[in-house]
Amino acid sequence: MRGSTAMLTRRRAPGPSIGPVPLDTDALTRHLLFTGGTGSGKSHTMYRIIEALIRLGCCIIVACAKFTEAAQIRRICERAGALDRYHPITPDGPLRVNLADYLMTMPGGSTAQATRFLMRLNEISVRQDGSRGDEAYWANLFEQGTNCSLDLPRLAYGTGTLKDAYDALATSPASREEINSDAYKASKCGQMLEAASRLRKREFDAGTRDPRTERRYERVVDFFLRELATVGSKGRGAVLSMNSGLTGRLLVDFHDLFCTETTLDFARAEREGWVMPIDAPVLTHDVAGKVVNAAFIMLFQMYALRRDASTVSRPLIICRDEAAQFLIPDWDWNVATVARSHMLSHIDAVQGLEVLESALGGDMKAEREAQAFASQHRTLIAFGNNEPKTNEYVSKLIGMERDFMMSAQPRPEQPKEISSLDDVLGCAQGYGYSEQYQPIIRPEEFARFDVGQCVLMSGGRYRFLDLKEKR
Ligand SMILES: Nc1ncnc2c1ncn2[C@@H]1O[C@H](COP(=O)(O)OP(=O)(O)OP(=O)(O)O)[C@@H](O)[C@H]1O
Ligand SMILES: [Mg+2]
Repeated sequence: MRGSTAMLTRRRAPGPSIGPVPLDTDALTRHLLFTGGTGSGKSHTMYRIIEALIRLGCCIIVACAKFTEAAQIRRICERAGALDRYHPITPDGPLRVNLADYLMTMPGGSTAQATRFLMRLNEISVRQDGSRGDEAYWANLFEQGTNCSLDLPRLAYGTGTLKDAYDALATSPASREEINSDAYKASKCGQMLEAASRLRKREFDAGTRDPRTERRYERVVDFFLRELATVGSKGRGAVLSMNSGLTGRLLVDFHDLFCTETTLDFARAEREGWVMPIDAPVLTHDVAGKVVNAAFIMLFQMYALRRDASTVSRPLIICRDEAAQFLIPDWDWNVATVARSHMLSHIDAVQGLEVLESALGGDMKAEREAQAFASQHRTLIAFGNNEPKTNEYVSKLIGMERDFMMSAQPRPEQPKEISSLDDVLGCAQGYGYSEQYQPIIRPEEFARFDVGQCVLMSGGRYRFLDLKEKR
C-alpha cells in the first residue's frame, strides 16, 4: 500500500431524500414530467396517476400518439366508475369546434387571435418538413394570408369556417388581369369579396358601418387584389402551400370536427370532470394527428387561462404522453409559467432530451427549448434510459455526495529510534483526509434500471423507487 490512497468510507451525505409527494394543487400546477427509454414504464405509471386524478373528479384532456390510448383511457374510466365522464374527441364524434368562428368570437377572441393560433399550429406542420418557417418574408406573407382569409368570410357572411378561409385563399386572383375575368368573379374568393362589398354598401346606407370593420375590409381587399395578386406565382405558391400544409391537412379527415358547429363546451367539461382523449392518433394521421392534438390542447389551455380560477377547487389537467410530438415551445412555455395561478397542470412524458430536441428541429434553438421544457416541470420521474444527455441532466439534478478519502503515508527510511510497534513494522506514521464529490447516481446507472425503476425528484429532493409490479 506504499503511497497509495484508499477509500475508507463512502457515506451518503445527509440526503435531500424526499418523502411522499402530495398529489395536490401545488404539485400538479408546477407540472410533472416522466422521462425514460421505450418500455421503461412511463405510460404505465402515467396511467396510474390519471386514474387517481379521475377518481378525484378532475377534468382531463389527453393527447394521443398511439391508437390504443383512447381505449386505454376508457378502461381506466370504467375501472374508476367514471364511464359517464368519458368523452373522447374523435374525427366524426359529437364534440366539435368551428375553429375559425370559435377563435374569433370567444371572449377575447379576434382575427389576430385566430391567426396566431394557426401560426402556432403551423410550427408543428413545418417542423415536420425540416424547416422552422422562420424566414421573415414568408412568415409575414403567411400571417397576412391567414389573417385576411379568416376575415373575408366574416366580412361577407358574418361567420365562416376554416374551409371558407382556405377557399378564399386558394381561389384568389393570381394576377391583376385575372381580377377582371369571369372565372374569378364566379370563384369563392370573388363571391365573398362581392358579398362583403354589398354588405358594406348596405351598412353605409343605413349609417351602421363600424370603422373597425371598414378597416378590416380595406385590409382584405388590399391583400387579395393588390398584394397577393402581384407577388408573382412563386410568392403566391408559397403562401398557398404553407396554408394547405396546415389547413389542407385538417380539411380532409377533420372537416366536420373543425368546420361545422361548436359543441364542445369546456366550462361544462370542467364542471362535470370530463375525461377527453383526443382520438386522432399520430400513428394513424401523421402530421394532421399532431396538429389536431395540439389544436385541442391549445384550446383547452386558452380556456384555462381565460376562466376565473379563483373559485376553482381542482386544476384542469393536460396529459401528453410522447409530448415531443405536440409541443409548441414559445406558447407552451408561456402557459406553463402562468399555469399555477390559472389552476392548470401539465403531465408530460418524453423519452429524453435528445429525442425531444430532435422532434423540435434538432438545432441549437431546439436544444435550449428542450432544456427549458424539462426545467419547467418541478416533479420529475426518471425511468431507465440509454440517452447520455438525459441521464447526465437527471444525475446532475439529483446532485453530488461527499466521499471521504483517507490516505496513509508509510515512512520510507528506517526510524532512528524504535519505541512503538509502528516503528518496528515500518508502517504508517501519518494520515491524510481528503474529500471528493461524486454524483449520487452516476449517469450510466440509469441504463441499468429495470422496468418500473425510477428516481422521483421534486423541488431538489429525490428518492429511488422500484415500482415494478409482480405479475
Ligand atoms: N411498474 C411496472 N411493473 C411491471 N410491468 C410494468 C411496469 N410498468 C410498465 N410495465 C410493463 O412494461 C411494458 C412497457 O411499459 P410502458 O408502456 O409503460 O413503457 P413506456 O416507457 O411508456 O414505453 P414507450 O416509450 O415505448 O411508450 C408494458 O408492457 C407494461 O405493462
Ligand atoms: Mg409509452
